[in-house]
Amino acid sequence: MTSAAVTLQPLFPVALGQVALPADPLEAAVLMRAMLALRGEAESNPDPLCAWTGDLNGVDQLQRHAAFAPLISRLTGHVWTYLQALGFDSAALALHLQRCWPVVGETGQVVGRHHHPNAHLSAVYYLNGDGSGRSGCLRLWPQRQSNELVPGLAVGHGGPIRADLAAANDAAANHAAANHAGAQQWNAPWFDVAPRAGLLVLFPACIDHAVLENNDDDDRRFSISMDFVITAPAEPSAGGRPEYLAPHPGGWQQVAGPEGGSLGG
Ligand SMILES: [Fe+2]
Repeated sequence: MTSAAVTLQPLFPVALGQVALPADPLEAAVLMRAMLALRGEAESNPDPLCAWTGDLNGVDQLQRHAAFAPLISRLTGHVWTYLQALGFDSAALALHLQRCWPVVGETGQVVGRHHHPNAHLSAVYYLNGDGSGRSGCLRLWPQRQSNELVPGLAVGHGGPIRADLAAANDAAANHAAANHAGAQQWNAPWFDVAPRAGLLVLFPACIDHAVLENNDDDDRRFSISMDFVITAPAEPSAGGRPEYLAPHPGGWQQVAGPEGGSLGG
């Protein structure tokens, strides 16, 4: 019997970006008050169990609000760093903040599983949270579980993949613990990010995600969501126009409506 070890190499990983920015409690307090003012009388979306999200309530350009603009401007600098880390040539593309909206989660509220097909890159910034996850983690799902080998195995019910995440952090001191660690590393059904004041999270907009229930009886959950779109620069370089990038929207022309009237622009 051979003693050669099997090595496992992670292929095609999803790039989850996290930036722990220094939290400014004073600024956060001002912005949380401003978010409550923007929410007004509403407390949900409108399902009482769904957190209030500005994108569905006409508040989706937060970067244009004076109180929020300085923070949003600081955050977008980190977006460039994320893109460059992924290998993008910043000189060959233009980055657009398409939407930016507040999310306020009361105790017991969630945001259901979804993704953002309108955008390329999504981001969330947390104004509060202590890192425990009790105010509701951001849960991200893989697009495809290639390592599950047979689709559905990880569902459980005594299945052959030992996806007991609670035990996954055990040291691999015995075979069972090693199996649990393997399940987490290679077949994790999801990944949770606990909100923490000052944390910026970035991920591809195509990735399904949700917000788990806010179990903090004493505090609302405050976050700012952002959607970014990548296009060609307004003035493409001498290298030409990248084939798969949309032209810069500054060059787009809106088509008149079916009744023949102009829609503007
Ligand atoms: Fe989202």
